[in-house]
Amino acid sequence: MRKRAKGRNPALPAAIQPRMITDTTPETGVAPVTLTAFRSFLSARRSTRQFLQEDVPDDVIRVLHDAAGLTPSGGNARAYQVTMLPRGRTRESLMRELQRICAARSALLNNPLLRAAAAPFAGPYVRAFLRDGEYGPRMARLLGKLRRGEDPLFYSAPVVFFFHSRALIPTPREDCVIAAFAVSLAAQAAGLGCCLVTLAQSAVNASRRCKELLGMSADSSVHAVLVLGRAASPAEERPARAPIPLHCV
Ligand SMILES: Cc1cc2nc3c(=O)[nH]c(=O)nc-3n(C[C@H](O)[C@H](O)[C@H](O)COP(=O)(O)O)c2cc1C
Repeated sequence: MRKRAKGRNPALPAAIQPRMITDTTPETGVAPVTLTAFRSFLSARRSTRQFLQEDVPDDVIRVLHDAAGLTPSGGNARAYQVTMLPRGRTRESLMRELQRICAARSALLNNPLLRAAAAPFAGPYVRAFLRDGEYGPRMARLLGKLRRGEDPLFYSAPVVFFFHSRALIPTPREDCVIAAFAVSLAAQAAGLGCCLVTLAQSAVNASRRCKELLGMSADSSVHAVLVLGRAASPAEERPARAPIPLHCV
């Protein structure tokens, strides 16, 4: 039975206040989730960047993997795969390879001549990075951390999930991001912390060696990376997020 909202919810944009529905059991026959519970679950979500060094149990991994397969995909193609990378020798080899790639990129970015020469051959995304004056110093900072043995790419998380696809159409990128977000919500429900990370993505996509280490075919592209594990500390209290504007036309 649906009930109209009695009062205003200050967290919601004004434009949807009149049609807001309060807690209700969905009529679709799926497990009931109240709107209040759903919203507080979403608003409690925070990215985690510090993890306890304890493994994620296999039964939790199964729940997370299951979530990755429950999402919608363009044309229902479901043409994406998930690769899990726990800590260990393969992760260490990957980190060494990523450090090598960062060093090469840093050298390129610090050399104005090479930078200008590379631009015409680069695609639009790489050209945008080459034009970004902050990109060089950012890459140098990243490299410094890697050389000091820190892990700014995966935050030393117990588990890293790569969402990748060999498909170019219809929507592999969107499918992977949606699946990654579903896994992040499942992780939250399982009491884990997680963070979507993009810093390693382009390097992995540009490197046959990284793909080999991850057991991915050379024509695969990684479209989302999620790091997760038990958070080292509870999420900090933060002010409520401002609503994204809703334009009614
Ligand atoms: C597509 C995407 C890429 C992201 N990439 C990174 C990243 O490379 N490193 C990182 O620390 N956080 C990354 N984040 C996390 C955002 O920084 C974070 O979601 C944002 O600051 C809001 O904080 P919250 O998730 O705690 O609400 C990414 C988030 C998204 C959605």
